[in-house]
Amino acid sequence: MASKSVVIGGGTGFIGTHLSNLLKKSGYNVLTVSRLPGLNRITWHQLNENGLPNDTVAAVNVAGQNVLDPTRLWTSGFQQNVWNSRINTTATFVRAITNAKTKPNVFVSISGVSLYRPSDSKIYTEDEKGEDFDYMSNLCLHWEKAAELPPEVKTRLVRIRTGVVIGRNGGMIKSLKLPFWFGFGGKIGAGTQPLPWIHIEDLCQLIKYSIENDKVNGVLNGVAPDIITNDDFTKAFGSVMRRPTFFTTPEFVIRNLFGKERAAILLTGAKIQPKRTLELGFQYKYPKVIDACREVC
Ligand SMILES: NC(=O)c1ccc[n+]([C@@H]2O[C@H](COP(=O)([O-])OP(=O)(O)OC[C@H]3O[C@@H](n4cnc5c(N)ncnc54)[C@H](OP(=O)(O)O)[C@@H]3O)[C@@H](O)[C@H]2O)c1
Repeated sequence: MASKSVVIGGGTGFIGTHLSNLLKKSGYNVLTVSRLPGLNRITWHQLNENGLPNDTVAAVNVAGQNVLDPTRLWTSGFQQNVWNSRINTTATFVRAITNAKTKPNVFVSISGVSLYRPSDSKIYTEDEKGEDFDYMSNLCLHWEKAAELPPEVKTRLVRIRTGVVIGRNGGMIKSLKLPFWFGFGGKIGAGTQPLPWIHIEDLCQLIKYSIENDKVNGVLNGVAPDIITNDDFTKAFGSVMRRPTFFTTPEFVIRNLFGKERAAILLTGAKIQPKRTLELGFQYKYPKVIDACREVC
């Protein structure tokens, strides 16, 4: 069988590692694009200079500096890092695909759900373009725009607007496990803010589905169909950990820790449905948050 490679930007991260393992199990060669050289890795500079390997069937970008790193102040320098790590890496892929003699079948680019303006009543689907109303929404809009391929390039483009990823080894669960374990778990702020989420296995399967199905293109909401609030998540996670969830982290603590713009990620949210994702035939393994929490615990 001819070799088929998938090139993953940010393949060393939480989502990237899970995705690499899934694709390797399915018989793909996986090459990671990283800031640091290593085994089965190329650097962003090398991708820029040498382009994609000829047998690349798919390029996937899941790179991005962790926005909610509590050790980093929300300075203009850090904001630039957050921005460049998404926009510049995506643009590097677009250049590499455009210049490739043999083009990959598909480019999958992750982005966020922060482009949906928080609302208590509205339910958003992929039909919404999103709005520019703060730093994060602006970033997500530019991130999606950066992934656009020139019209003459026939590579399929799939942009996945991803909710909070629930998985054992990273993201939100990694930060919450310990406080919940010691009985200090609880909602954030009012707890009524919607929390768009997806289990890591479903997100990686959705990326694989996008790679393998020619009918998949355009924007997909990478969220589970179960629309929940922060409080719903807190109760589900507390119940599977068999721990109380009496504590509340007040809004001012979050604002002081992260700054107003980053705090919005935790204190506000939108109700989002994966309409196109479902219409395209994708089946979730963890459509309900309680099952996703059980798996990670
Ligand atoms: N986890 C979530 O809940 C979630 C939800 C929605 C969207 N996303 C998006 O999905 C992407 C991956 O998330 P993740 O949770 O897997 O993050 P992660 O574990 O922090 O990994 C991200 C990877 O991006 C690379 N990276 C970090 N800073 C970078 C920089 N300044 N320049 C270039 N590359 C950089 C790193 O690879 P190297 O160190 O090898 O360079 C890292 O392994 C991010 O863009 C994130 O915004 C995540």
